[in-house]
Amino acid sequence: MSRSILMLPGDGIGPEIVAEAEKVLHKINEKFSLGLHFQSALVGGAAIEETDSPLPDETLDMARKADAILLGAVGGPQWDKRPMASRPEKGLLGLRSNLQLFANLRPAILYPQLASASSLKPEVVSGLDIMIVRELTGGIYFGQPRGVRELESGERQGYNTYAYTESEIRRIGRVAFEAAQQRGKKLCSVDKANVLEVTVLWREIMEDLRREYPDVELSHMYVDNAAMQLVRAPKQFDVIVTGNMFGDILSDEAAMLTGSIGMLPSASLNSEKQGMYEPCHGSAPDIAGKGIANPLATILSGAMMLRYSLGEEKAAGAIEAAVSKVLDQGLRTADIMSADGRKVSTREMGDAVLAAL
Ligand code: IPM
Ligand code: MG
Repeated sequence: MSRSILMLPGDGIGPEIVAEAEKVLHKINEKFSLGLHFQSALVGGAAIEETDSPLPDETLDMARKADAILLGAVGGPQWDKRPMASRPEKGLLGLRSNLQLFANLRPAILYPQLASASSLKPEVVSGLDIMIVRELTGGIYFGQPRGVRELESGERQGYNTYAYTESEIRRIGRVAFEAAQQRGKKLCSVDKANVLEVTVLWREIMEDLRREYPDVELSHMYVDNAAMQLVRAPKQFDVIVTGNMFGDILSDEAAMLTGSIGMLPSASLNSEKQGMYEPCHGSAPDIAGKGIANPLATILSGAMMLRYSLGEEKAAGAIEAAVSKVLDQGLRTADIMSADGRKVSTREMGDAVLAAL
């Protein structure tokens, strides 16, 4: 069976980390005879430079046809002054919405080897294993109307719309309940139902779904409390489900509990299980080109791709085991460096994972 993988390196550290993940995927392809074919295309600022669009038609076309997509990161200061509709981030958001990748899975797992890299005490985070399920194609990121308008007073007003339909809430709810069934059977739905009507509806639909998943224990939490609980006692969580913007914020917070956002992969899936896989971190323009970025989140995103879109659990597990092994060997990029670690570059880290395979 031949399957096509589209690589979208993007901007900043994107090309460096995707190159390492690509090496690992090539090796795994050979080793497990997966029949994967790799292509690459432009997205984000890199695409703006070549085509003036953050998401060229050709890229979108290739993305639609691919079985899975691996993306690095988009954005950088040189494009920050562009109008919202033509910024690099629109490339990423356009892919998410055009492919209807509504379910964003962001695991936050603490590798025991990295317990000392967390900003929290080891006893608070050791054994941490949370899955954040973030709605990705709706909510305030996509709600209409939006813009900056001039009021009668002559003053400008910026505005966005936070809206969710019942069906949007139900489909992400199902993904989250099912994820909880596969794990610790606890689901916490995060909302702001004390203030926002849209999340009153969100809570109601989650309650509705509860009946279909009697084996899952559902709880609700306001987002401000959830942000606090994540740093107070993060191990109380198993699966968290929330909307697009709250999920964006809480997943960065959860990432940091694990020591470095440079360790966290993510999957964005549609209802056909076609997926786009990317590290949770951004393009880190401040360290781009220096060869010091941590490629492990991207490499682990490759493992998620094998698991969720290609059904290759064994190959996925092999990558994860290889990553764990290089951490055991004490190899550390700058972001996860500790007193007893050996500091390595982006490429050395990729090579070490290859060797461990
Ligand atoms: C993320 C990022 C994106 C988001 C940006 C780059 C548009 O922060 O994937 O979490 O806000 O979704
Ligand atoms: Mg984010």
